[in-house]
Amino acid sequence: MDDFLNSLIPFRDAIDQALSEYSAENSECPQRLSNAIRYSLLAPGKRLRPLLSLLAAQAVGGSWRAAIPAACAVEMIHAYSLIHDDLPAMDNDDLRRGRPTCHRQFDEATAILAGDALQALAFEVLATKLSEPSIALECCRRLSFAAGRSQLVGGQADDLAAEGRYDSAPNSLTTDEQLAFLQRIHRRKTGAMITVALELGGIAVGCTANRLELLTNYGQALGLAFQIVDDCLDVESTSESMGKRTGKDSSLGKLTYPGLLGVEESRRWAERCINNAISAVTAFGHNGEPLTTLARYVLERKN
Ligand code: IPE
Ligand code: IPE
Ligand code: MG
Ligand code: MG
Ligand code: MG
Repeated sequence: MDDFLNSLIPFRDAIDQALSEYSAENSECPQRLSNAIRYSLLAPGKRLRPLLSLLAAQAVGGSWRAAIPAACAVEMIHAYSLIHDDLPAMDNDDLRRGRPTCHRQFDEATAILAGDALQALAFEVLATKLSEPSIALECCRRLSFAAGRSQLVGGQADDLAAEGRYDSAPNSLTTDEQLAFLQRIHRRKTGAMITVALELGGIAVGCTANRLELLTNYGQALGLAFQIVDDCLDVESTSESMGKRTGKDSSLGKLTYPGLLGVEESRRWAERCINNAISAVTAFGHNGEPLTTLARYVLERKN
């Protein structure tokens, strides 16, 4: 696994360089806002979603460099979603990527605005850095859907509703019904962005509809597994190793996999999803091997 992670370093470096370039200071953007945007966007995250875009482009036989703008646009939406997820009105977290959260480092209003600006910047990057207009349009269409009211934002709203904040917690539901509700939350708040990262990587290099469908299937299975593992790590791990507060889900009354099924059973669910993800990309043969290894890493990851 270490060899595999080391082999991703050139991809990560290219992603970080492009993220920095696309978010470079601009005389019309107030300094404090610019600092907050770059503080969160360039903080040391795993860069899972942009890496998925690049590996997807490669899996379908394209050049990964052509997928850099799409990869960065997805990471910008992700970074904005983390800034807002951490706000006092949402999960109220102080630590993110090993550093104070954006609203702690700056202030709440600046954090809200940095998130807003990152969301717009993602679409600016797609519209201006992808040279083929039909590709740019398709990427904007898919990313706006994944980031929007029925997927990422809708999933976040239901995640908060499931805490019982709006008197609509699914308390009266059976365990199976709660599990279905939870799966719908996870597929939308997390799975949609992971899936669209893969799709945009394929689309950026002009992949066929058949191949795109395999990337979608892989992304949906991986995305659900990723959030199940995140829920498990919140129970099992420490804030030192995660770079964010742990033990927080149960204290907030979140609906989670380990909360419903326990950690062991949750990990079995995640493992089944990962096996499904891997089966989806075997058709890519050798070019798809990094996606297979990455899926295994999602299960084994410690942060
Ligand atoms: C955190 O995502 C939010 C979830 C969907 C669980 P990551 O675990 O990918 O966070 P970074 O990007 O590495 O900080
Ligand atoms: C957040 O899920 C998913 C997002 C869309 C940001 P969590 O609230 O579990 O993510 P962490 O644990 O704070 O990273
Ligand atoms: Mg949350
Ligand atoms: Mg959170
Ligand atoms: Mg979490």
